[in-house]
Amino acid sequence: MDKVAKEYWEKLKRLEELDEAYYTNDSPLLSDAQYDELRREIEAFEQAHPELITVQSATRKVGSKPAKGFRTIVHHVPMLSLTNAMTDEDVADFITRVRNFLSIPDSEVLEILAEPKIDGLSCSLYYEGGELIYAATRGDGETGEDITDNVRTIESIPQNLSNRKGASAALSIPDKIEIRGEIYMDRDDFAALNAAQQKVGGKVFANPRNAAAGSVRQLDAAITAARPLKFFGYALGLHSHEFAATQDGINQALKEWGFSQAEPRKLCRNLGDIFEYYHMVETIRPDLKYDIDGVVYKVNRLDYQTRLGFIARAPRWAVAHKFAAQQAHTIVRDITVQVGRTGALTPVAELEPITVGGVVVGRATLHNRDEIERKDIRIGDHVIVQRAGDVIPQIVAVVMDQRPADSSKFIFPDHCPACGARAVRHADEVVTKCTGGLSCPAQAVERLKHFVSRLGFDIEGLGAKIIEEFYQDQFITNPAEIFTLEARDAHSITPLRKRAGWGDLSAKNLFAAIDARRSISLHRFIYALGIPQVGESTAKKLAAHYRNFSDLRTSLQSAQDQESAAFAELLEISD
Ligand code: IVH
Repeated sequence: MDKVAKEYWEKLKRLEELDEAYYTNDSPLLSDAQYDELRREIEAFEQAHPELITVQSATRKVGSKPAKGFRTIVHHVPMLSLTNAMTDEDVADFITRVRNFLSIPDSEVLEILAEPKIDGLSCSLYYEGGELIYAATRGDGETGEDITDNVRTIESIPQNLSNRKGASAALSIPDKIEIRGEIYMDRDDFAALNAAQQKVGGKVFANPRNAAAGSVRQLDAAITAARPLKFFGYALGLHSHEFAATQDGINQALKEWGFSQAEPRKLCRNLGDIFEYYHMVETIRPDLKYDIDGVVYKVNRLDYQTRLGFIARAPRWAVAHKFAAQQAHTIVRDITVQVGRTGALTPVAELEPITVGGVVVGRATLHNRDEIERKDIRIGDHVIVQRAGDVIPQIVAVVMDQRPADSSKFIFPDHCPACGARAVRHADEVVTKCTGGLSCPAQAVERLKHFVSRLGFDIEGLGAKIIEEFYQDQFITNPAEIFTLEARDAHSITPLRKRAGWGDLSAKNLFAAIDARRSISLHRFIYALGIPQVGESTAKKLAAHYRNFSDLRTSLQSAQDQESAAFAELLEISD
């Protein structure tokens, strides 16, 4: 392969990896702005070297394949994506392209409907005879995941469509109709959900979009029901009869039928209107209840939309005008290194606090050793920080011409900052890990937190803060000691009930909560052990397969021999 082809191929691979993380696992690896940049690079490559484009090119498809575990649904009309416009010039080009394609002279007004671009999870709702039959994610655009049961728990999605009293007859509901829109979560609801998740040691989401996607894509609809999800409708797929002449008309009909819509919207008559709308929305963006990542412009007349049709993965009649990521300039005061449950060392930049897009940012993750080296971030550096919908802020770049003359490269520790044990990095891994195991206080505390977390032993009253306190005072230093706490407390000269913040009742309650967990289901036990790569779903599979702990232990011991029947048996378990 020549150099250009290789570079192109590597970028495609990277895009595929990012798509999988974003769409299938709901855990983005990069900010949206960085992702878009890569996509643009690939598009530029394809323009310069059209001979390289393959049918599989990731830029030709939308989203990612449906995840395992969900039934799939083939959309009646494919669900597409939108072309992005990053600059005013891109927007002007879009209008010119549309005008040229339709041969509309400049003297004639071309109406464009502008509306917010909600940052959520797109969803297609299929109704027949006004009744919700199924709901599907976008998936790869052709085939999505069946999320009907989950969607039925979302209050703002009507189960049955009916015209509100006094509605015009022209808006009669088509017998068959696919309604497209975005499932999202309000920012306040997202913050409350994360706080609750953190308290019980559950999954904490990076941003409202991921929280919405993670909440919808649950195999157990009861979990979705407990999450504060909402829906905005904004487009149609299949519809058995026409009932509107314009995009605005579709919006009105959707409203009549009980769907909420993102506000504010504006019917624009020229570029001046369009840019005015864009800047207005950008200004009110921090005050909106939900995250948006830009605005969408749609040719208003539906007959024009039909004539314009589609190219590759997007309609020719619409464009997304994205907001620039919110950035600010600040100083790195220090670089600290945190130790996680599995011993991973994560460097963190301690920043001079700064407001970025309405939120005060004081720290930014530096991910790992490579990231610090790649960006050459040093203590004392002036840096650009960015929040792009993500809750975890990123350092985009160092402002090199403001670097202090005496600065020196950050030396990544080769020993654990918490316990002093050697920190090593294996050849094919990006993370550096502490080798201290349970003798490392940072790992021990994090493992204890995991042990008692919601999906593990789930002991009421023994949250992350109490664990830290008890560990510090050597009350509980390993999981087994949780279960001897009461007996030891009985002989203690500083019993729990006498500690600040505790009393007779709260101590008794805690002992009762611990007693209630002396026997738990096997999958919770396996999860609580915190084996790398073994999360809730793998723990459930292992538990269902091995049935009891002694069989599990014996089998897994035997499975260390890769020639053994036990090893083959382990591989047979799905995932
Ligand atoms: S219209 C044929 N309108 O953004 C395409 N999409 O990045 C119809 N989105 O796939 C899409 N807000 O999931 C449309 N007001 C809006 C939107 C919107 C968010 C999503 C949608 C789309 C994605 C493209």
